[in-house]
This record gives sequence, C-alpha cells and structure tokens, in this order.
Amino acid sequence: MIAIIAAMDKELKILLNHMQIDLIDTIADKIFYQGKLSGKDVIVAKSGIGKVNAAITTTALCLKYDIEFIINTGVAGGLFPINSGDIVVSEGVMYSDVDVVQIDPDLPYGQMPGDPYIVYADDALVNKTINTLNQMKFNYRKGIIASGDQFVTDSMKLKPLQTVIDHLYAVEMESMSVAITAFKFNIPFVIIRGISDVIDDTLQVQMYTNSVEDIADMTASFVISFLEGYRWIE
Ligand code: ADE
Repeated sequence: MIAIIAAMDKELKILLNHMQIDLIDTIADKIFYQGKLSGKDVIVAKSGIGKVNAAITTTALCLKYDIEFIINTGVAGGLFPINSGDIVVSEGVMYSDVDVVQIDPDLPYGQMPGDPYIVYADDALVNKTINTLNQMKFNYRKGIIASGDQFVTDSMKLKPLQTVIDHLYAVEMESMSVAITAFKFNIPFVIIRGISDVIDDTLQVQMYTNSVEDIADMTASFVISFLEGYRWIE
C-alpha cells in the first residue's frame, strides 16, 4: 500500500475527507488511517510536528505495514526564488540544523555522522510527480528540502547549507526524518510541499498564518490528483 504522512490536522483534512477509511490504528501517540484514496490502497498517518515525531511515525509504518512507497506532504517555508503557493518536489532532503563540525571538521554542516548528507528521493516518483504538476499547470520547482526543529524566518540560519547547495528551495520540520527512515528501510519516497511562507519576507509570519490552511488544502488536493493518475508499472 501507499503511505502518506503529514504532520498537522490542517495538512490531513482534505486527504481524510476524500478517503474511504476502513480502519483506524494507533501506535504510540500516532494515528494511522487505512483505506482507499483515489482508488488506491493507502495508509495515511498523522506524524505530529518535528523530526522525532516524523521518525517515530515512519518507523512504525515501515515495521507494521507493507509499504510500496511513502509520500510526505504538507506546507513549507520557501527560499528565493520560490513564491508562496508554489510546490517544491524533493530531488533530495537534508538536515537544516545538524552541526557536529567542531568535533569532526571533515563533515559539512548539516551532516549527521554515519548518515548521508543528502538523501535522494526516488527518481521515478519524482518524475511522476512532475508529470502531474505539468499536466495541472502548477508552479513548481524540483530541489533540495531541508528539515530542522525550528520555524525558520531568517535565511542566515541556512547560509552554511546555501553556500554548498544552490537549489535549496524549501525548509520544514519533518521530511529528512521521513527520508532517512525510508532510506534505512529501503522504501522509495517523495516529498511534496506547498509553500505557505517565504523566508526573510517582512510579512512572513502573517503570510503563514493567513495562508497555511489554503496551501495545505491545495497541496493535499494535488496529492489526491497524483494518486488518481498514478500507475506503479507504466
Ligand atoms: N513550515 C512552514 N513554513 C516553515 C518555516 N518557515 N520553517 C519551518 N517549517 C515551516
């Protein structure tokens, strides 16, 4: 079955409204909705916010269910040249807040010892996402997404990453945990995030507050369309 993970109720609302829910399961404090969406067998999970919550949720999914691939969806902050309302698709994902440079100068800022610097998303899933985005005439970019346990309002925090990665387009709080867990369980994944706020904008926080629900709905609706057109073997 296809797993869809989102952090907040706002990001799950449209998915759950359109889903035929057959079973609701709870593992730890995480809720898993099993059923059909767009004619596909799915398990939709609410992770909660942040890296630990996302890692717990993804691990539980990988251990308990037979997962074909994982979609992590929801909102994110955008970095130049991304605009509010754009969609960012993961070429790959990295940490925004890992720093062990003082004890291991060979590791770049952002890399956890023993783990990849960037975890790359599944090429076929990324290409299929982009095909659907093109068909639906969405504004989108494929790039690197960074995750950390912080709501970022100042791009200076991301400078150590941006000096290395020229196509870091979005920042949020879960996708690297989903990605690294999926990578360790050898399960394909893609991250699809709608941009709710533009980092460094003087009105960023208001932008987030005013648009988060609409952008979450738009992004979830896109995921439903993606699933409708989705064929695993083409
Ligand atoms: N989710 C949405 N906007 C975000 C931001 N600016 N930083 C972190 N997570 C976000």
